[in-house]
Amino acid sequence: MLESASVESTAGYRIVKLANGACSIHSLAHRETFHPVIGPVAEAEALYVRQLRLAERLQRHTGEFVLWDVGLGAAANALTALRAARDIPCSIHLLSFDHTLEPLDFALQHREALGYLAGYEPHLERLLHEQHCAFQDGALTVNWDMHLADFPALLAQPSALKLAQPHAIMFDAFSPAKNPAMWTQPLFANLFRLLAPDRPCSLPTYSRSTMLRVTLLLAGFFVGVGHATGEKEETTIAANTPDLLAEPLDRRWLERARRSSSAEPMWEPVYRQAPLSPATLDKLLVHNQFR
Ligand SMILES: C[S@@+](CC[C@H](N)C(=O)[O-])C[C@H]1O[C@@H](n2cnc3c(N)ncnc32)[C@H](O)[C@@H]1O
Repeated sequence: MLESASVESTAGYRIVKLANGACSIHSLAHRETFHPVIGPVAEAEALYVRQLRLAERLQRHTGEFVLWDVGLGAAANALTALRAARDIPCSIHLLSFDHTLEPLDFALQHREALGYLAGYEPHLERLLHEQHCAFQDGALTVNWDMHLADFPALLAQPSALKLAQPHAIMFDAFSPAKNPAMWTQPLFANLFRLLAPDRPCSLPTYSRSTMLRVTLLLAGFFVGVGHATGEKEETTIAANTPDLLAEPLDRRWLERARRSSSAEPMWEPVYRQAPLSPATLDKLLVHNQFR
């Protein structure tokens, strides 16, 4: 039993109090809690801020650092990233993506319970109503755009080429079983195509599934083992250069994937589990990561 109390809402979300006392948001439609075990801030720090080596990369960075926040939700990941950067003299262009602003609106209505929105409310109100805000946060300059759209459809459009190319991506959709459209092979292939080859970019996410890792490899990413987060003993980090991976998946992982009953990417937005097809295996065997 991870959730010990809740506050209902009419908006399709409710506040849940986790066993450690932190509050998080639960989606009634997806029957999933946004940050279900250690809470929004601790999970955002462990999974995204630390794995992206955000502070270290920002300190060495010149020019605008482009950060994609896929699945803005209630903005816990975005705000945790900004707080981690606010003492560093640098400039972040934050692009948030979601097909609804309801969780953000709901979070603003429950700001006291959630806590982590404190100090950012005027900027979040502007993001909510104008889909853009720009502000100074300590030493950090923030330029924040909200892209309110179906993310897979947005990436498939030619206009996606005009989006600022990311140095880092926080990928936080609901789980593949509940939200399969956000985990298909075509989505990650489109995402990879939008990266600048000469701009190192990493993408941590909470799943460690073989299916996801194969999906990312086939899309063109290098893929490594990600940190434990409190909820998961292992997560996944992908990047367009092996230099951003501390522990790349090796040939032993590939052997396990070969035997797995759930390794074939989802080609359609319909959840299912299947072993690797011969065509997928052939592609993995010639991936630069395993040569
Ligand atoms: C786990 S929640 C994200 C939590 C959020 N990162 C935070 O820090 O509060 C997943 C988010 O993905 C969004 N999402 C799901 N499917 C989507 C789609 N097809 N296009 C865009 N956003 C989507 C949901 O609306 C939801 O806000």
